[in-house]
Amino acid sequence: MSDVSVIGTGAMGSALVEALAAAGGAVTVWNRTTDRAAALSGPRVGVATSVAEALTASPLTIVAVSDHELGRTLVEQARQDLDAKVVASTSFVTPDQSEAFANVVRAAGGRYLDLEIAAFPGQVRSGHGVFVVSGQRTAYEAHRACFERMGRTTYVTDAPAAAYISGMAVQVAFLPMAVGLLQGLRIAEAQGLSPDWFKKAVLELYPFHIERLLDRVTARPDASAPDVEASVDVMVAGAAEYGGALREMGLDAGMYDALHRLFVAASEAGHGEDDWTCVVEHVATR
Ligand SMILES: NC(=O)c1ccc[n+]([C@@H]2O[C@H](COP(=O)([O-])OP(=O)(O)OC[C@H]3O[C@@H](n4cnc5c(N)ncnc54)[C@H](OP(=O)(O)O)[C@@H]3O)[C@@H](O)[C@H]2O)c1
Repeated sequence: MSDVSVIGTGAMGSALVEALAAAGGAVTVWNRTTDRAAALSGPRVGVATSVAEALTASPLTIVAVSDHELGRTLVEQARQDLDAKVVASTSFVTPDQSEAFANVVRAAGGRYLDLEIAAFPGQVRSGHGVFVVSGQRTAYEAHRACFERMGRTTYVTDAPAAAYISGMAVQVAFLPMAVGLLQGLRIAEAQGLSPDWFKKAVLELYPFHIERLLDRVTARPDASAPDVEASVDVMVAGAAEYGGALREMGLDAGMYDALHRLFVAASEAGHGEDDWTCVVEHVATR
């Protein structure tokens, strides 16, 4: 018997296995391409020859395959009795998809958890993962120590997909920022500025801005005393300027074109002179 099984040893699965083993856990792994699982085997890591064997080897199994449908199908096809077992899936799910996976696990007698990982594999591997968990609280509590050995762990609620939906609320701004940083670096380099200069400039500016920005977007505006920091029309012009400049530099302007459309919609709806944060009405309905 091992402490935890991991199904899928791709980039994230192998990082989870290494973190768990480094923290002193006994781990069982299964992977479709057996060589990738075998490469992880060692004093603390054993290789299972089937999904069913991995599911029975430990009280907790983490499924880290490409997507939720594949994870659910692998568990369903294993036809394994999951009495007293917990299955946690790392794949993004909507509430309906989470329910479907949970039903498969429940039908086999087990309990299901959504396991959102808000970190890259390298961070997980070094024990600095960030995990958000939802599902039956008792199932989480039973394996809390295991998750905490791999990094920072937060339990949200038992609502289906809550880990993913709350994680998405926090991270939906991350990808546009990451792509924007890649574009920004290209622009800086084209100006003869070094990556170190770029990194320093971003680190000087963003931490300051993020706090003010959060204050601004979470503030409840007082309709009787409108406070316009930057109007929608200022943003219409700004988005158009950046979009045009990106195009001229041979960079994709799609993100700024989308922002421009959004601000134009708010302006055409009569909000041109209102604070730019009123665009939330259009973000919510479009
Ligand atoms: N990478 C990240 O930064 C990151 C961050 C957070 C969460 N996650 C989550 O972690 C999970 C795994 O992502 P990853 O980055 O590790 O992906 P990956 O490196 O592409 O690994 C995919 C895994 O799925 C397996 N797989 C694919 N098709 C299969 C099939 N038909 N039958 C059985 N196994 C199959 C692969 O097995 P083979 O080795 O045989 O191909 C491999 O183990 C995903 O749910 C992802 O959302 C990833």
